[in-house]
Amino acid sequence: MTDTTGLAARSANAMLRAPPPRQFFMTFRDIGLWIKSARADAAVSRRSAELDNAQAFEALYRAEADPYGAADPRYRYQARKYAMLLSFLPARPYRHVLELGCGVGTFSRALALHAESVTGIDIAASAVQHATALSKSHLNLSFRPGDVHTFDSDGQQYDLIVVADVLYYAVPSGDEPALAAIARRVAASLVPGGLVLLADHYFFGFGAASRGTCAIHDVFRQTAGLQMQSQHRRCFYLTTLLQRSK
Ligand SMILES: C[S@@+](CC[C@H](N)C(=O)[O-])C[C@H]1O[C@@H](n2cnc3c(N)ncnc32)[C@H](O)[C@@H]1O
Repeated sequence: MTDTTGLAARSANAMLRAPPPRQFFMTFRDIGLWIKSARADAAVSRRSAELDNAQAFEALYRAEADPYGAADPRYRYQARKYAMLLSFLPARPYRHVLELGCGVGTFSRALALHAESVTGIDIAASAVQHATALSKSHLNLSFRPGDVHTFDSDGQQYDLIVVADVLYYAVPSGDEPALAAIARRVAASLVPGGLVLLADHYFFGFGAASRGTCAIHDVFRQTAGLQMQSQHRRCFYLTTLLQRSK
């Protein structure tokens, strides 16, 4: 698979970490992860008939601590994905990092190895509790409840903001004004030259999920003050890295 811009390739020797070794993208066991994730998504959409987004995710995490298997070592796909995301980030000092929609904080913990401080925000208070419990040994990591639409950066400007597999839950399909408002809020929470990394599921352009992901990433690309640095397609996700103007 190739990058859609040459920028990442040109700076490949200055990335935060090397990409994980080339292997088949998932193991037989990872099929269990896909079934688990599909069940979690089905539970959220069932509950969404009666509950709002926050309540639906809260009910999900109350029923099961790690409904997407993000911290479950039996599954390799998710760990490889997080390692790949790190490999798309340039090697530079990261003082403050924010992960929006952090779930149980698995990627926040990976980021904490490369930053002075990492904050994870999730709409589900129970996810925040699980993330906190799993992160006791990470002194530079904290979690709090919050909504990607309204999160308060507490006066903090971030060197990096990560939004992975969140926006297609948080914003109804086709609501570009809501996405644009989130993109502006994210851009305003970055230091000049700060980065935003988006990752969302992508099935090589086929189906509504891929089109939804492209629409999300396009809105960020069209946001004033954000410039795209690189874009990568992998099995089964698309990442876009953007930088706030200096
Ligand atoms: C599939 S999980 C992804 C978790 C994490 N980003 C990862 O990649 O492992 C989606 C997460 O988005 C959170 N979420 C959904 N809507 C949200 C919103 N409006 N604001 C913040 N978080 C939200 C859910 O609670 C859930 O933890």
